[in-house]
Amino acid sequence: MKHFINLKDISAKDLRKIVSDAQKRKKLRRKLSYLDVDKDAPLKGKLLIQMFEKSSLRTRLSFYLAIKQLGGSTLTLRPNELHLSKGGESIEDTAKILSNFGNAFMLRTDSDKKLEEFKKHLSIPVINGLSPSSHPTQILSDIFTVEEIKKKPIHKLNIAWIGDCNNVLNSLIAASIKFSFKLKIGCPRKYMPGKIIMDYIKKSNKKIDIYSDPKKATFNADVLFSDKVISINDKVNKTKKLKSFKRFKVDKKLMGYAKRDCIFLHCLPRGNEVDEKIFSSKQSKVWIQALNRVHVQKSILLYCFGKLR
Ligand code: CP
Ligand code: NVA
Repeated sequence: MKHFINLKDISAKDLRKIVSDAQKRKKLRRKLSYLDVDKDAPLKGKLLIQMFEKSSLRTRLSFYLAIKQLGGSTLTLRPNELHLSKGGESIEDTAKILSNFGNAFMLRTDSDKKLEEFKKHLSIPVINGLSPSSHPTQILSDIFTVEEIKKKPIHKLNIAWIGDCNNVLNSLIAASIKFSFKLKIGCPRKYMPGKIIMDYIKKSNKKIDIYSDPKKATFNADVLFSDKVISINDKVNKTKKLKSFKRFKVDKKLMGYAKRDCIFLHCLPRGNEVDEKIFSSKQSKVWIQALNRVHVQKSILLYCFGKLR
């Protein structure tokens, strides 16, 4: 059994294996409907318990379909209906019950510490469905989407990120180190990555460029990522932050600095960081990006269960 909490803690070989498995599985079920189970039903009889302490649409739906297609089932807990929060039940006791009733636990939380605590006390895998410091299932799925659309391994492509240095970017940085792709980041000086991430980049000896000029970061990009300037529960002065990001809006002019066939990706939900014309253009692949979460999360589940082919 394996946990899936941060890309930086998983070997490059395993991450590549997850993406390759998802590619094979997606192909194999081309003619099947959403709820049809894969022929080999590798997780038959298994229960995934999910809990969202923050809102979610895509992660919730994609894990629901992922475990179903592998032959298992899911149960979604509402945090405010458990004893864990207001009732004072400990993480340790909650984890014991989850481990006795289910086979894997997916948690979206506002506390990285809570994920680590669950990991300590669970005897089943825990999957990070977004935390303040990372969004690993999203980014691994985005690697899959990039390679599917570009028909090239990601290390042969120039990747750019325009926007806030948040959880999603942290996972993209980890992915760029694991998959060895070039990454250019464009964000206002005040909102550049913090010390922990900068130290991680330095230690990796890989080339990640950070610019306060969005044009420089976008130049020659094959793929351009963005995300909301204000993340869920971001405790900042919103007006001030949004103002700082005005120059970082992904519009036609900025896209003009990228390669002609550059694609636009966004994990969604979106805010004002992308112009409607780009968002709804042919270059934008956001809907297929969202749907691919199902395929990659299936292979993440198989990795956690030690069942990757
Ligand atoms: N991209 C993503 O994680 O979406 P949700 O917040 O809707 O799950
Ligand atoms: N950075 C965003 C991602 C949402 C999927 C957030 O944390 O709100």
